[in-house]
Amino acid sequence: MGSGIAEVAARAGHSVTVREMNSELLARGQGLVEKSLSTALRRGKLSAEARDAAWAKLTFTTELAGLAQCDLVIEAATENPTVKKELFAALDATCSPATILASNTSSIPIVELAAATKRPALVLGLHFFNPAPVMQLVEVIRTIVVADATVGAVTHFAEGLGKTAILAKDRAGFIVNVLLVPYLLDAVRLVEQGIASKEDIDLGMRLGCGHPMGPLQLLDFVGIDTTYYIAEIMFQEYKEAKFAPPPLLKHMTIAGLHGRKTGQGFYNYP
Ligand code: 3HC
Repeated sequence: MGSGIAEVAARAGHSVTVREMNSELLARGQGLVEKSLSTALRRGKLSAEARDAAWAKLTFTTELAGLAQCDLVIEAATENPTVKKELFAALDATCSPATILASNTSSIPIVELAAATKRPALVLGLHFFNPAPVMQLVEVIRTIVVADATVGAVTHFAEGLGKTAILAKDRAGFIVNVLLVPYLLDAVRLVEQGIASKEDIDLGMRLGCGHPMGPLQLLDFVGIDTTYYIAEIMFQEYKEAKFAPPPLLKHMTIAGLHGRKTGQGFYNYP
């Protein structure tokens, strides 16, 4: 998600600093942006000049200090509350007091991240959808301690990216994942119960409901592990059975069958 968000912001004319944990991940992210910009060019979504201009807006670093003077930092780390809280505390210590800190979390209540900083009025959720350069939506998530000016500034920023922003209160999963995740988990339960083949489950939702991907294809696309972590967090928040991750999802996560990114999930990606 991080590479997609960086690309979207650079294409909108912002100077973007991309920070990754290490040089290997940084090179991977850089490659993803290059590939996506090339696709956009090939598909006629972007001129060669606009591609070059976007590329020139991007700086890549492994140093957190590289973010110190940013107006807005959008965190897109792994969906782990401990990792994200540590990162928010480090960003709070590193960034200018005026920097707004946003999280692209899919499910973690934003107030937990705000509480890890000394600037809760400047912390909110800004949730993109995968693939970020293509999907039109962002969710803006308002905690009980964020300032109205922060919400206004980030909504304005999101609209400037060409996205449509919808506003949600700070509850795990916000709007879209509260609806989407139980649906995805139910698809895994259909597989577990042997109700239908995975291909037929996907065909059912594609041809029967007009979804661009079936739920198992979408799970492979979003990431089996990511969806498992999201479901765990949502189950902890709501204690409702519909958010409980089915054992098959857990086992696939443990076994490293994480979907497209590892080459195998419900389907194979040679
Ligand atoms: N930059 C700009 N545009 C691009 C692009 C790029 N890098 N790559 C593709 N596009 C454009 C294409 O030109 C095309 O545009 P057009 O419709 O105007 O011709 C459009 O995007 C679709 O691209 P493709 O034809 O290559 O691909 P598909 O038609 O197979 O669509 C897909 C791919 C957009 C991924 C589609 O399958 C889809 O919408 N899938 C569902 C995705 C989804 O549900 N995402 C949300 C996941 S949930 C989430 O992210 C939340 C998280 O918290 C879990």
